[in-house]
Order: sequence, then structure tokens, then C-alpha cells
Amino acid sequence: MNPTMPRVDLRSDTVTRPTDAMRHAIANAPVGDDVYGDDPTVNALQERAAALFGKEAALFVPSGTMANQIAIRTHTQPGDEIVVESSAHIFLYEGGGFAALSGVSARCVPGEGGLLNAQKVREAIRPPDPTSHYPQTRLVCLENTANRAGGVVYDLDRTAAIAAVAKEHGLALHLDGARVFNAAVAMKASLADVAEPFDSISCCLSKGLGCPVGSLLVGSRAFINRAHRFRKMFGGGMRQAGLLAAAGIHALEHHIERLADDHARAKHMAAQVGAMSGASVQLDTVQTNMAYIDVSPSGHTAAEVCQGLAERGVLANAVSTSHLRIVTHIDVDDADVGVALAAFAELVG
Ligand SMILES: Cc1ncc(COP(=O)(O)O)c(C=O)c1O
Repeated sequence: MNPTMPRVDLRSDTVTRPTDAMRHAIANAPVGDDVYGDDPTVNALQERAAALFGKEAALFVPSGTMANQIAIRTHTQPGDEIVVESSAHIFLYEGGGFAALSGVSARCVPGEGGLLNAQKVREAIRPPDPTSHYPQTRLVCLENTANRAGGVVYDLDRTAAIAAVAKEHGLALHLDGARVFNAAVAMKASLADVAEPFDSISCCLSKGLGCPVGSLLVGSRAFINRAHRFRKMFGGGMRQAGLLAAAGIHALEHHIERLADDHARAKHMAAQVGAMSGASVQLDTVQTNMAYIDVSPSGHTAAEVCQGLAERGVLANAVSTSHLRIVTHIDVDDADVGVALAAFAELVG
């Protein structure tokens, strides 16, 4: 790519760079040794996150993957089974961590359009087993927004119905909320309402919220106390982590409501590209900051179209032969959308 060319990076919302205001917050953060519990900025972030989600406590961790894996380890024992949707990040993209770190098996359930429902969860739960043949179902994990389903949202009713089934069977319910902020903004719901049915929630500061590093695990005080031990075991204890936590506090204060702009830009781009003769988009799945675009009508593979986009300064990810994904975020403005649409028009218009 020509270095003077504009660069519009639509590969993921993980590619964001801290704003000047965020860098200022980082530079001025009071810090201490968080392994001793001495970092005031980490403590403040954890308290703020717990309050936002309406839970008792939160734990700052380096990544969303670690937050999910600590949650699974805290809820389960080796030999247990977890229920997940077949394309869930926990199942597909965390290196088999659930098996390696927690010794559990995963019952994968294909969702309807990538979303689980109460009936599917009920059918996936192992029956009472006096013969001790079966693994014991212990945990149900949902993902909101559901990434591979297109960034679609579990609404409050669907989640409540699944939570009722989990409760009836004595199972814990965990939310992979890497993009729970997008979900809440899309539903115009509070984070506390979204979190209410869950025993634990992971959320990422380093995606739509634009932080360089960091995720949080949120739950009851007893759960987080146990999770703290597994964070240590998994190597996630950090020292003067207040530098990172300061970015998180800044993002929770300033970067949640603006996610609506990302959603509007994703919808606009999806509608425009979907109307081009060489592409199609299932617009009802474009609910937050992503769009999956089928470029097969153009006669090109998604990899070829991504290559053509890159030559025009626009980065997107091919996710299959036919589909590519675009993701909007804080570093994509209206001018960038114009650049991207012009590039798409040349390639699939
Ligand atoms: C749905 C979902 N969960 C978890 C993660 C893991 O986050 P991290 O990259 O911080 O480990 C991701 C990352 O993209 C994700 O999309």
C-alpha cells in the first residue's frame, strides 16, 4: 500500500488507537502494585464496572479470552460440560482453552441465525445420570453481541428465557460480553439490565471502547474472589496496571454512547454495499458495528475483494470464500466510510 494513501481499517474494532484524551488519562493515572491490591486506578475501574453492571465485584484482566477462561474455570470442575453456540468465540477462537485449562467438554449447539434459544439449551442439558455415564452440564455460555452471527444481539426476552432454563437445572450462566456495550446501546438497555440474568460477565475495553488493552470479569463477590485465584494461576496478575485501567475508566465515561455512531455507519455501509450488483448483505443481521458481505455475485472470492480493497487503502477480513467482514469503530469517521464505499463500488459495483 502506498504510505500516503488513506488507510481505513475495517478489519476489527480491536485495531483502534487511544485518543489524545485517553493518552492523557493514562499518563496521569495514580498507580500501585495491583498484585498487592494497591493500585488505586485498577480498584476504581473494578468498582465502577461492578456498579455499571449491577454486580458486587469485578476483576481487571489482560484480555477477553482470559476473562472467559477464568470464568469457565471458576464455574466448573474437570469432567463437567459447558453448553455453547457452535460458532462461539469460547469454542472456536480461544485455542481450546476450556479443555486445556478447565478440563471440561463443550456441547456445541447450532443457533438460529447464530443465537441460542431456551428450547435448544434445554435439549443440550445432560439428563440426571445415576449410572455416571455422562459429563455433568454445569455452565451455559452466551455471546452478546454474537460475533460470527454478524454482531447480532440477544434481546432481553431471549436471554431471560434461557436464564430460566439454566436456573431450573441449577446451571451457571456466563456472558461472553466482549461487545456487551454494543449490545446494550443497540437495545437502548442499561448494562445492569443486560447483565441481570447472568452469574458472570466478561467485557472488553479493547474493542469498541477503544482501549489499548484490558477486559473485566464481573460477578458476585464470592465468584470474583475465586476468580482472583485463577487469574493468578493463568498468569494474569499485573503490577502497575493502573496505566491500563485509566484508559478503561476514560472509555466507560466517554466511549459507550458514541457506539451508536459506529452502528449507524455499519448499517449505512451495509445498505450501500448490499445494493451493489456484485454483493449482497443480510441487512437484518446488521444490528451493531459489523456487517458480513457476500461478494460471490461479483465473481470474485472474498480474499480477492479484500486484496483489491487493500490496494485502495481499505482493510477488511475475508471470513470465508464468499464473505468478508467489515467492522466500524472509533477510528472510522464519515470520510473513511466514503473512501471505503468508493473502493467497494470499483470492485463490486
Ligand atoms: C466475542 C468475543 N469474545 C472474546 C474475544 C476475546 O477477546 P481478546 O482478543 O481480548 O482475547 C473476542 C475477540 O475478538 C470476541 O470477538
